[in-house]
Amino acid sequence: MIKINFTSEVDAGQVQEILRDIAKDPMGGWLHLPKKFDIGEFARIHEAAKKIQEESEYLVCIGIGGSYLGHRAVIESLRPKSETKIIYAGNSLSKRELDWALDKVGDHDFSINVISKSGTTLEPAIAFAAFKDKLVEKYGTEEAYQRIYATTDAKKGELHDEAVANGYARFVVPNNIGGRFSVLTAVGLLPMAVAGVDIDKLLEGASDAVTSVVEPAVQYAYMRYALDSKGYDTEMFASFEPATVFFNEWLKQLFGESEGKDKRGILPDSVIYSTDLHSLGQYIQDGRRNLFETIIDYPTDEMNAKVVSAVRTAHTAGGIPVLNIAVSSFDEKGFGELIYFFELACAISAKLIGVNPFDQPGVEAYKAELKKLL
Ligand code: PA5
Repeated sequence: MIKINFTSEVDAGQVQEILRDIAKDPMGGWLHLPKKFDIGEFARIHEAAKKIQEESEYLVCIGIGGSYLGHRAVIESLRPKSETKIIYAGNSLSKRELDWALDKVGDHDFSINVISKSGTTLEPAIAFAAFKDKLVEKYGTEEAYQRIYATTDAKKGELHDEAVANGYARFVVPNNIGGRFSVLTAVGLLPMAVAGVDIDKLLEGASDAVTSVVEPAVQYAYMRYALDSKGYDTEMFASFEPATVFFNEWLKQLFGESEGKDKRGILPDSVIYSTDLHSLGQYIQDGRRNLFETIIDYPTDEMNAKVVSAVRTAHTAGGIPVLNIAVSSFDEKGFGELIYFFELACAISAKLIGVNPFDQPGVEAYKAELKKLL
């Protein structure tokens, strides 16, 4: 159960309307996904994960944005145990990073999971080309193609067409689920399963959340809206667990891409405490009063819990609205629940400010400009 420490003024009729809107949105497929997961696809994810673990020391996960951040967030937070290590590539255009990843894989046995809903994004396409060459060189074409797992649209796109032509194992990004809402599809589940995350438990947590987090998600969305209306236009997500740094990154993408349009939206930022109390802490305590803080209160040890308490008191005294979101458990179930909670809260928040939560015209604009330049 997600527990929050605040209540907001909620318009029940408006909430019903928003929830109906999300449910019938062509991109609202994530809403019931945890309860309706395709059992066949789920079994194939487990089988593929087992095969990858048996034959590879590394799985190279190639993807960017919504095709990358969610699974990295869970894997790095939970630090599960698996003989197969995950390496990330295709999440920038830095040649230095790509060379580092190629070098790190070196002569080890490896497989590739290339993830791209559109199948045309440049960053993953370049990394995929480089790793595919390496795979073919090491294993020959036939075996190389057996080691490539493509997660993409079911019917269209360059990656889809190539996967069909070359016989790669294919997993689907459902066409009614956008990138940043796709962590609980094969996009996130395959890398997580390979890394040793218990994906059954993750989905169980998300499935419980479908009913249990509606009320707190609505409260949180209305609180964000009320704060934004009072001039608190920046949200600082604060975690006290350093392993969750990529969960913060996922949150920034989720809220930033969903809300930041039509000159509206709260700017999402993040900190890890107590580390950042020795850097951004000064600004948060004493700087411009335009930010509110959302503590993601993971169950933690006694000493760290005292830091949580000290921060809450000091920042409240410093004039910062501090929201607390208490997570039930630091495990797969807890993260499943948390992911669903934030997805729902984010979609409701965007609807409250009157923007479409599920498109990303700004991202597409950058992609188009880069294509022209190259
Ligand atoms: O959330 C989104 O839609 C984006 O961040 C995309 O996930 C990102 O741009 C990658 O796109 P694709 O999966 O098509 O390669």
